[in-house]
Amino acid sequence: MALDVRSVRAAYPALRDGYAYLDGAAGTQVPEAVIEAIAAAYRAGIGNVGGAFPASERSDAIVAGARQAVADLVGGDPRGVVLGPNMTTLTYRFAAALARAWRPGDEIVVSRLDHDANVRPWVQAAERAGATVRWAEVDLPSGELPAEQYDALLGERTRLVAVTAASNVLGTMPDVAAITKRAHEAGALTYVDGVHATPHTPVDVAALGADFYATSAYKWSGPHVGAAVAAPDLLETVRPDKLASSSDAVPARFETGTAAFADLAGVSAAVDHLAGLDAEATGDRRQRLLASMASVERHEQAGLARLLDGLAAQPHVRLLGGPRRRTATVYFTVQGYTPRYVAEHLAARRINVWNGHNYAWEVTAALGIRDHGGAVRAGLVHYNDRSDVDRLIAGVSELR
Ligand SMILES: Cc1ncc(COP(=O)(O)O)c(C=O)c1O
Repeated sequence: MALDVRSVRAAYPALRDGYAYLDGAAGTQVPEAVIEAIAAAYRAGIGNVGGAFPASERSDAIVAGARQAVADLVGGDPRGVVLGPNMTTLTYRFAAALARAWRPGDEIVVSRLDHDANVRPWVQAAERAGATVRWAEVDLPSGELPAEQYDALLGERTRLVAVTAASNVLGTMPDVAAITKRAHEAGALTYVDGVHATPHTPVDVAALGADFYATSAYKWSGPHVGAAVAAPDLLETVRPDKLASSSDAVPARFETGTAAFADLAGVSAAVDHLAGLDAEATGDRRQRLLASMASVERHEQAGLARLLDGLAAQPHVRLLGGPRRRTATVYFTVQGYTPRYVAEHLAARRINVWNGHNYAWEVTAALGIRDHGGAVRAGLVHYNDRSDVDRLIAGVSELR
């Protein structure tokens, strides 16, 4: 089973502009099917949910479809899929709701590998509750987040462990299952940031031991929508601030205001698209997603190996981290040039990469680069091909 990158690329109108889109870690392009699903929802007529007329029923169906789609993507229960504008907003919402039960002397554990969206909401909620924050550290040369350190970080007062399934700069995929196992033994809940991991690998929230798993559709060919997935029974125990007039049912009680219904139609279309990335994948949508995402991972890892070889061969390039298990995301500096200059040089050659700290606030400070322009980030997703990789290697080599 393999991915046919030519036919995958043909599904994306934006890729026809000749740019090498190596900025997928900050947001992917969307295929025609997603654009069409969103347009079709508007064309057909949509109403607010819960009404007595067909346009409202169409929105009810769209919301139910999006919950099922996200559940299929991550191996969750559609009754536990909370939809929202993005991961950051949802995480703030859950941090505020979960912290209601925290007392002075309680503890939480966050990691310096994480995007700030899975750090600051917890740190700020802990401050308000008088809870203590403990930090899991990154082994800087390798970029690993060793799971063993959690033995010393966890205790009977630990309420929550927040950890990423993949770093959005170093690409590190920590041993999340080993971390969540330790957290559960200590009686803590786990909140796993799956925003960077989800587009790169098959996901199974049960295998990860994620009590909460957050993801954002715009990182996997969908619209700007976020989701947090949990067991419905667990959600029943959590009470967020909400309007008196809005539904108290799970998962709706975590969803404030009116949703982006047409975009939610795009979420389902994006999951269907991912399920079909490997044309040979068979079975129900969950099975096809697992097979397709395994093919995506193989495709990206082959590109990553080529990219790492091409960059490592250039003495003026410094690659940051080198974790064993990683996404196809690289973070590097070029001697004598600021990361911004490198990004501009590449943009002039129609290559999209990011520069800066990319919100990986803690690890970039630990690396000593946060206040000096960060580094350059380039990442591969399923639609990137060998020519994207070779153009990046060639563009960087011109800066020798
Ligand atoms: C690893 C990771 N976590 C969280 C976020 C924040 O996601 P959102 O933009 O949906 O709030 C991002 C966004 O770049 C990310 O890469």
